[in-house]
Amino acid sequence: MAMKLSERVQQIGPSATMAASERARQLRATGVDVLDLGPGQPDFDTPEHIREAGVRAIREGRTRYTAVAGIPELREAVADLYSHREGIIYRPEETMITCGGKQGLFNIFAALLNPGDEVIIPTPYWVSFPEQVKLAGGVPVPVDTDEADGFELRAETILDACTERTKVVLLNTPSNPSGAVIGRDEMQDLARLALERDFYLLVDECYASLVYEGSEHVTPLVVGPEAKDVTIFCGSCSKSYAMTGWRVGYVAAPAPLIKACSSLQGHSTSNAASVSQYAALEALVGDQTPVRQMLTTFAERRDAVLPRIREISGMTCVEPRGAFYAFPNVNGLLSEDLATSADLSAWLIDECHVVTVPGTAFGRDGYLRLSYATSMTVLEEALERIAGACEKLAT
Ligand SMILES: Cc1ncc(COP(=O)(O)O)c(C=O)c1O
Repeated sequence: MAMKLSERVQQIGPSATMAASERARQLRATGVDVLDLGPGQPDFDTPEHIREAGVRAIREGRTRYTAVAGIPELREAVADLYSHREGIIYRPEETMITCGGKQGLFNIFAALLNPGDEVIIPTPYWVSFPEQVKLAGGVPVPVDTDEADGFELRAETILDACTERTKVVLLNTPSNPSGAVIGRDEMQDLARLALERDFYLLVDECYASLVYEGSEHVTPLVVGPEAKDVTIFCGSCSKSYAMTGWRVGYVAAPAPLIKACSSLQGHSTSNAASVSQYAALEALVGDQTPVRQMLTTFAERRDAVLPRIREISGMTCVEPRGAFYAFPNVNGLLSEDLATSADLSAWLIDECHVVTVPGTAFGRDGYLRLSYATSMTVLEEALERIAGACEKLAT
């Protein structure tokens, strides 16, 4: 008998990355040496001092419910982080702690969107953005950024897509999957547009600490304190501190939104795990050397893999300015048999046992996402295999 699922969940699809992972798992089970360029998480361990803070919290018995919006020390640390970085006071009541950036975003959409409200989402986008918007009753409006611009979002693109129903514009900088970073001039224009047209700028800055030399992390507050009312920050400890499994994210936004998100969270998960919050506190206020070291390693890998990707016949690739993904254009490799990047990605698993994520998962067919959050040894071998396989397609 067919399960009577809600219309709400029937609108959302399973993660497109799951098919590739499943195929890789099957191959691995038969003893095949599969190389994985799919991961969306750092390959480093959580830094020692942060793990120790988690252990200490367990030993000290900090294992009960905390306030829904987070332990006061951590909210204060988040408020300090924003006050210091933006040069504008953020109070603890303007922050909250969530179970990863994912829950922060989920709370925000659920708290803001009425049926039919539009959320403009630049493509290529992170897979969960449109699905979360739909779950909250909103309408995702994808708009394409231009590869020739390095996928940097232009304010003009938003102006063209704006309607009376536009409630939120999503800014993911640096971007997963393109690595694009929104520059100062564009950010100024976007902030002015938000003020003029009365929509919110939701800044997903989960990769804020991973911006490479030559680029900078700029936020809408660059135009001044007046942008604070229309800016919603969603951050995370996952990527910056290699803490994906701890599940700690945070939101900084006007107090009424934080209050609404806290009520929502109070009826769903309640607080982020208590022990994780103490670890996150150490992450934010403790030694930042590991963050710099990870950035240096990712930059070295990017510099090593980019020329190799560009040498592969049929591929071109813009330079990622942040995060840890390359997003090569693979249109030159598509054909009648391999019509989409999803077909190509599946073919690469079978042909040379390398896992990639197809651009179709990010709203842009014709691209692959290659994560370099893995060792140079794996990266070199994987790219060699891909290059060999693509030679066959080119001939
Ligand atoms: C752009 C972006 N936002 C948010 C998240 C959520 O991460 P987490 O829930 O682990 O903080 C991710 C994770 O991949 C991401 O890539």
